[in-house]
Amino acid sequence: MMHHRWVLPDGTPSNAREIFLSRWSAAASAAGLVCDHLGTVDGHALELFGHPQCAGKGVRLLITAGFHGEEPAGPWGLLQWLQTQGGDWQQRFAGRADIRLIPLVNATGFQMGRRFNDRGENPNRGFNLAIDPTRPSAEGALLIQHASLLREASRDGVLSCHEDIAADAAYVYTLESQAQPSARSQALVATLERYLPRHEDGLVDHCPVHDGIVFNQLDGSFEAWLFREGARYGACLETPGRQAIATRIAAQAGMIESFVQNALEI
Ligand code: NI
Repeated sequence: MMHHRWVLPDGTPSNAREIFLSRWSAAASAAGLVCDHLGTVDGHALELFGHPQCAGKGVRLLITAGFHGEEPAGPWGLLQWLQTQGGDWQQRFAGRADIRLIPLVNATGFQMGRRFNDRGENPNRGFNLAIDPTRPSAEGALLIQHASLLREASRDGVLSCHEDIAADAAYVYTLESQAQPSARSQALVATLERYLPRHEDGLVDHCPVHDGIVFNQLDGSFEAWLFREGARYGACLETPGRQAIATRIAAQAGMIESFVQNALEI
């Protein structure tokens, strides 16, 4: 299995898990977020963050990152977005949005710059055994144990932050209960294009991509699972590993903001 690592502009290696977690913890504290401990996998906590004053009011959004360990711009991008909220979280979102964050699903893969976890499992598969017999990973099984919490948290949308490390250009997967991508999906792509080239029309991972969107691909992924469970909207970001890490992180943070802002307007 290949190991992938980039160096952030401040010299931090992209797989520096303890540095990531300590910066995350500081940013979460500054925003007033508290942590819900979902469980532990091989000694690593799987944690869900939210703001206690925002719980249960307004649109419910779930944003996750770090399913695949060789896709570091997801977690770092979510951190960058959280840092830009600073102490304004409650003022901006109270009564309007209950946003929950899972910053790092696959802790062991992240540290190694490796796609799968230490057990050799894919944390983003096993959520739909009817179409794909792959069993859930240890992390996936833990998330499935918290199905009712996650279903409620993602009621108005679920976003998962990934990368395509072999790609030169960016795209998104979106899941919607309509025949064509909505304005919400178009806005994600418009944001992506402010940072990165958009993937040309054709195929990615055997799926048709059109205008930067792979549409309604109901696979065994986490986001497809929650969409089937009733989330009104699902999306998965794919930034290209062959572009600069700082640009990928900024693109992730920008698209997260687009996802949130568009949900506030629905
Ligand atoms: Ni991925």
